[in-house]
Amino acid sequence: MKSRDLIKKRILIVGANGLLGQRIIAFYQAQENVELLGCSIEEKPTFENTPYINCDITVREEIKNTIFNFYPDIVINAAAYTNVDLCESERATAWKINVKGVENIVEACRSLDAKIIHFSTDYIFNGNNGPYDENVKPDPVGYYGRTKLASENVLKIGAVTYAVLRTNVLYGIANSRPDYVRWVINSLRSKQQIRIVTDQVGNPTFVEDLVTAVNKVIVSDQYDVYNIAGKEFINRYEFALQIADMFNLDKKLITPIVTEELKQPAKRPLKGGLIITKAINQLGYNPHSIIEALEIIKKQLSL
Ligand SMILES: NC(=O)c1ccc[n+]([C@@H]2O[C@H](COP(=O)([O-])OP(=O)(O)OC[C@H]3O[C@@H](n4cnc5c(N)ncnc54)[C@H](OP(=O)(O)O)[C@@H]3O)[C@@H](O)[C@H]2O)c1
Repeated sequence: MKSRDLIKKRILIVGANGLLGQRIIAFYQAQENVELLGCSIEEKPTFENTPYINCDITVREEIKNTIFNFYPDIVINAAAYTNVDLCESERATAWKINVKGVENIVEACRSLDAKIIHFSTDYIFNGNNGPYDENVKPDPVGYYGRTKLASENVLKIGAVTYAVLRTNVLYGIANSRPDYVRWVINSLRSKQQIRIVTDQVGNPTFVEDLVTAVNKVIVSDQYDVYNIAGKEFINRYEFALQIADMFNLDKKLITPIVTEELKQPAKRPLKGGLIITKAINQLGYNPHSIIEALEIIKKQLSL
């Protein structure tokens, strides 16, 4: 074993209480040779057995002190303002968290030469002709997408070593707000009729696959922009039917509709999704199929 393999990597997970943040924490808790710290805006962590600091990335001194005191090799930023509709009405807050917050992280990391792993979305594209590879010119149709694109640009000009992992329709179980899968299960189990769109297409991403991709970037030291998503391109209605099938729920409660009927505040890219060939070839990324992922979730939920 080389001597540098014996030195523990110091990894800071920002936004550690979110869906992705929690799963990254859980992954690295099980790894040796990692010194882990989680931070997020909430007073308390949603997890145990890992140090946690309450820290708001929009407050420059707070995130700077957190980063300087821990002195990480790598900062993984899973914090974001992710409510797509609220981003339209709460533009200043969305910009502050998704763009200014990233500027604050980049500034502190630049001083320490810490590497950054950040997350983005297929909402940076207009959804006219997806799926998209990493080289397509972005053209967001909503404010959330605009802030996420701006966050990528902050990294691009930030003079830091960084990776951006773009993802879409993240699903998986964490101790936080229900993801799409749990929302469908909960609704159908309580016999609630749900209306799901047939015209929004993507390749849903099992959160554990995204976590594996994060680790592949770190281990292979290939910092770059990658699309990290699932294997199958399906619309949200088809996805809901697969969930109902897996959990033996009543599919008749799911009504197909089109996006226009929802009258949502934020415009969505319809034909979205991300081509994952680069991650497969360069990182050896190999995501689960939806059925495999749902089987794992079923076990996790002990249903
Ligand atoms: N979920 C998806 O379908 C999806 C799709 C594409 C890309 N992504 C990207 O993937 C990443 C992770 O998403 P996610 O679904 O895990 O998000 P999430 O569950 O909403 O988690 C984000 C976390 O960041 C925290 N946070 C918000 N403002 C903060 C601040 N000022 N300082 C520190 N922490 C703050 C949130 O706290 P509160 O909850 O208390 O605000 C939450 O714990 C994000 O970059 C997102 O844009 C997600």
